[in-house]
Amino acid sequence: MIATHSYRGGTGKSNVTANLAVELARSGHNVGVIDTDLPSPGIHILFGQDQPTTTVNGLLSREYSVKHAMIDVTPDEIEGAGHIWLLAGSPKPTDIARIVKEGYDLERLIDIYREFGAAGELDFLFVDTHPGINETTLMSITVADLLLMLLRPDRQDYQGTAVTVDVARKLGVPALRFVVNKAIASLDWASLRSTLETTYGDPCLAILPQSDEIMMYGGNGLFCLQQPDHPLAVALREIAQAISILRH
Ligand SMILES: Nc1ncnc2c1ncn2[C@@H]1O[C@H](COP(=O)(O)OP(=O)(O)OP(=O)(O)O)[C@@H](O)[C@H]1O
Ligand SMILES: [Mg+2]
Repeated sequence: MIATHSYRGGTGKSNVTANLAVELARSGHNVGVIDTDLPSPGIHILFGQDQPTTTVNGLLSREYSVKHAMIDVTPDEIEGAGHIWLLAGSPKPTDIARIVKEGYDLERLIDIYREFGAAGELDFLFVDTHPGINETTLMSITVADLLLMLLRPDRQDYQGTAVTVDVARKLGVPALRFVVNKAIASLDWASLRSTLETTYGDPCLAILPQSDEIMMYGGNGLFCLQQPDHPLAVALREIAQAISILRH
């Protein structure tokens, strides 16, 4: 189970998560993706599921089973390899308002992770999170095997990341890896990596380039499939391989 997280919003968690799911499924794995960013869900859009009818919200209120709720979002391009299953957050304003106002049972969410793993026969389960430190994230960090911590090369991100890393260590997360996203070419990437690793004490899996090309698609589709030879897609593939190695 891999929790993708960042202290600040908009670091690229959902895009990175969706594309890693594609790359791991491409190499024959069954991959689950669950959106726990219930106040502002979004990863379903990247998988072309603009209005999901079965959602994590419905699961939390016990309207149906995980088996019934999981959506097969395996792209045609990787048909014949592994599967990607999605448990989407509900984009309905009433559902979002309810979650924000009333919260939900965290124990139930842990059960959903477990049931999802079994129902999808998952090799990997990605948990896409809401940014910042909040109850759901703390719980997800506690049960995850790997915390993938995203940040941009920005001082506001550095300080928040330090806080989160400190909390994650106290919670005993078994493995933590950093991914820097939206790095511009003129930065000294080698020095950025070494500063990050010495400051935080855990490896940086990749530094991902800022890309006008991904912006061009405007959240329409999966970049690794659209531009597989782009340096960003190549780097995402390398992260997927590193995750695959970590598992074995
Ligand atoms: N390497 C990149 N270069 C340029 N733009 C990027 C890159 N990675 C992601 N983006 C863009 O950044 C925006 C935010 O990405 P995304 O939604 O994946 O972030 P997030 O961390 O999930 O955000 P949130 O915290 O709101 O959930 C999107 O418009 C996405 O296309
Ligand atoms: Mg997101």
